[in-house]
Amino acid sequence: MRILQKTIIRPYDIVINNSFEGLKDQILTVSKPSGICIITDSHIAPLYLEQVKAIVEEIAPAYAHVFEAGEASKNIATVTAIYDTLLEYSMDRSGLIIALGGGVAGDIAGFVAATYMRGVPFVQLPMTIVAQNDSSIGGKVGIDYLDHKNMVGAFNNPALVYINTMVLRTLPQREIVGGLAEVIKHGVIEDVALFHYLMTHKESILGLDDAVILEMTYKSCKVKCDIVEQDPKETGIRKILNFGHTIGHAIETLSQFKYNHGECVAYGMCAAAFISYKRQLLTVDIVHEITAVCHSFGLLGFLEDYKVQDIWEHMTYDKKKAHGKIAFILLKAIGTTTIVTDISEEEVAQAMTFIKETCH
Ligand SMILES: NC(=O)c1ccc[n+]([C@@H]2O[C@H](COP(=O)([O-])OP(=O)(O)OC[C@H]3O[C@@H](n4cnc5c(N)ncnc54)[C@H](O)[C@@H]3O)[C@@H](O)[C@H]2O)c1
Ligand SMILES: [Zn+2]
Repeated sequence: MRILQKTIIRPYDIVINNSFEGLKDQILTVSKPSGICIITDSHIAPLYLEQVKAIVEEIAPAYAHVFEAGEASKNIATVTAIYDTLLEYSMDRSGLIIALGGGVAGDIAGFVAATYMRGVPFVQLPMTIVAQNDSSIGGKVGIDYLDHKNMVGAFNNPALVYINTMVLRTLPQREIVGGLAEVIKHGVIEDVALFHYLMTHKESILGLDDAVILEMTYKSCKVKCDIVEQDPKETGIRKILNFGHTIGHAIETLSQFKYNHGECVAYGMCAAAFISYKRQLLTVDIVHEITAVCHSFGLLGFLEDYKVQDIWEHMTYDKKKAHGKIAFILLKAIGTTTIVTDISEEEVAQAMTFIKETCH
């Protein structure tokens, strides 16, 4: 399967496959590099680095930079360490960077590729559900700064996204479940058919049934591509991809990453759905459908108590606020969103109470 992501400057392919066969040829269609740097993390390296290195070495001399796995590495220190590796191997603009990993590796490698020598092409080899369905597509790259998620970054499209769904078999269950929150999000904001597909294929998805995962990935990537195509720089419609993320990011930061990104997005989606209901935009049945789907995939587990004041403070720091206001995504129906800028601390407080009651 293949989706062409149309962009203003240069479109790129998202290839969805169930093996690394074809990877070499796909890279060769976009780049004939003089050298290749694979950027990956310490969990993925022992599992896949040799295999991928052997494939890309048929294209050009390849070397790797391995960083400590985890969100805590998504910082400027990791970026400068990678610059050092690139310099050590005399990487120049004729080289190629490969992001072999989840959203963390993809965001870091994409940022390095955007900034090293004013830009080196890069290829995304996404290894998690989050990365395969969301983060590898759309060109947002970056790192966290101090306490702020994704505070420093760029828009930098990859030359190619090559998805091998088989690698999900080594992904820890918790990461699979967390990642599915982003897929649920794509269904909720844009695609009723995807939402129903998730409802009706829960077991095959959690069992990583090959055909079902390929189909789900295709549908989910299509949602992301369609939205990004309409608004590559997030000045309008692309904001809807942040559904569940405003409160989700606040929880993610406050928990000091005890909960993974997707788990936090699930909490955030339910909070946003509840606020939509309180504003009489959404029926209570749909709020329940969304929480039910999240629960059925194992999301919405017990959430620790966080002060609403702290959540609110993080939300107001959020860089997505426009002219001092937070752009908050609400829901009118499955597949229909609306953006508001007048969300109040009181509404967030009510939503957090709802989440506490719903999550266990
Ligand atoms: N750029 C974007 O548009 C965008 C969108 C969504 C999320 N993100 C970012 O993505 C990040 C979260 O991504 P993530 O959930 O993929 O986290 P991650 O990259 O940390 O991966 C999760 C864990 O799974 C391990 N892992 C990855 N692939 C594996 C595999 N195939 N087998 C075994 N273990 C594997 C990793 O080592 C890590 O421990 C966050 O930083 C978030 O901000 C970015
Ligand atoms: Zn996300």
